[in-house]
Amino acid sequence: MALVKVEKLTEGAVLAEDVLDGKARLLLSKGQSIGEKQIRVLKMWGVFEVDVEGAEAVVEEALPSADPEQMAVVSAQIKKAFGTVDIQHPAAKEVVRLSIQYRLNHFRPAPVAAPPLPPPDRQPARATEVAAKIERIDVKLPEVPSLVFELNEIIADPMSSAGAIGQVVNKSPSLAATLLRIVNSAFYGFRSKIDSISRAVTLIGSKEVSNLALGITIMETFRGIPKEILDVASFLEHNLACGVVARILAAHGNIAHSEQLFVSGMLHDIGRLVLCKYFPEIFQQTVVDAAREERSLLKSEQALLGCTHALLGKKLLNKWKLPYALENNVFYHHQPSASPSPETAAVIQMADMIVHGMGVGTSGEQVVPGFDSKAWERLNLPSSALRSLIKQAEHQIETFGDLLRKG
Ligand SMILES: [Fe+2]
Ligand SMILES: [Fe+2]
Repeated sequence: MALVKVEKLTEGAVLAEDVLDGKARLLLSKGQSIGEKQIRVLKMWGVFEVDVEGAEAVVEEALPSADPEQMAVVSAQIKKAFGTVDIQHPAAKEVVRLSIQYRLNHFRPAPVAAPPLPPPDRQPARATEVAAKIERIDVKLPEVPSLVFELNEIIADPMSSAGAIGQVVNKSPSLAATLLRIVNSAFYGFRSKIDSISRAVTLIGSKEVSNLALGITIMETFRGIPKEILDVASFLEHNLACGVVARILAAHGNIAHSEQLFVSGMLHDIGRLVLCKYFPEIFQQTVVDAAREERSLLKSEQALLGCTHALLGKKLLNKWKLPYALENNVFYHHQPSASPSPETAAVIQMADMIVHGMGVGTSGEQVVPGFDSKAWERLNLPSSALRSLIKQAEHQIETFGDLLRKG
């Protein structure tokens, strides 16, 4: 048997494995013969490829025969990105292998730019000053935007109607437009156009729509950070991609509430936006320090701030009274074993590692900032599952990239 892309499926092929949707619901059973109707179902649910009996092994199994120069560039990129991770662990090893494949298939030359230099004429802030500023961050954090407050209320109320969600979302035309663009994208794979929020709720569920709306609204709050400080579009790409991968991982790992894992992924590095918005000079110092000391940005944050973006993200979500599970996933995404819910935090950490490996977007971090193998193992997900999982994510991530470029 071998994986075959849905667009290359021929009628009469026989499924070698059950096909599940993104929420682990059975779409087609093993042994099912493929006809026009089945191909339509697979496309509608956004399934990218399926296991088919008797198909020839896919050539992509092996590393593509790459141009030696490209291979040298990618090897150097991967060596740098995974420098602090134990890549002997089977899951990390598989992510490295798949990241090399991905980068060779989507080759981008290494950036020519040198690491950023310290801003001239500025003395580095002293640790005590920084600590005092972080202490005062609770005062600086913005009050909860009314839309976030209302969406949060809706998420907490299991009886919320499609009409009520539509009413809240439609208060912001740009939010409604972004949401409909995502719902109509290949990410969900519906064939007919969805033209209203209440229709979207009927099709993908109230929790999914409100969580998606929540993630978009929170990110929008931090628009306007100058590009010299942080490339916010690239930051959004990194975080959205992490949400996509987290959601697929959750479905494969049979973790309930995968829509919450999606939002957790979308918001996992939100603390770094807090830092950029309120303390841009300190953020720049952490970037310079990480480059100079050849360590992760996470370690530089800890050294210069006495805390990391994970705590700043937690403070924001706590002030805005967002679900505790979401706050925890964000706080523990770099140390999942310490979380009251290690499995979900491990999903976010693995999703982050995969997105770093693929090199999709950037959170300002240049390396994978660690891998907690103990927490990952609690998920009981075989490393062999990562290949099809990353393939599925790749397709959806490309969809998001297009959406972000369209603004
Ligand atoms: Fe992070
Ligand atoms: Fe990240």
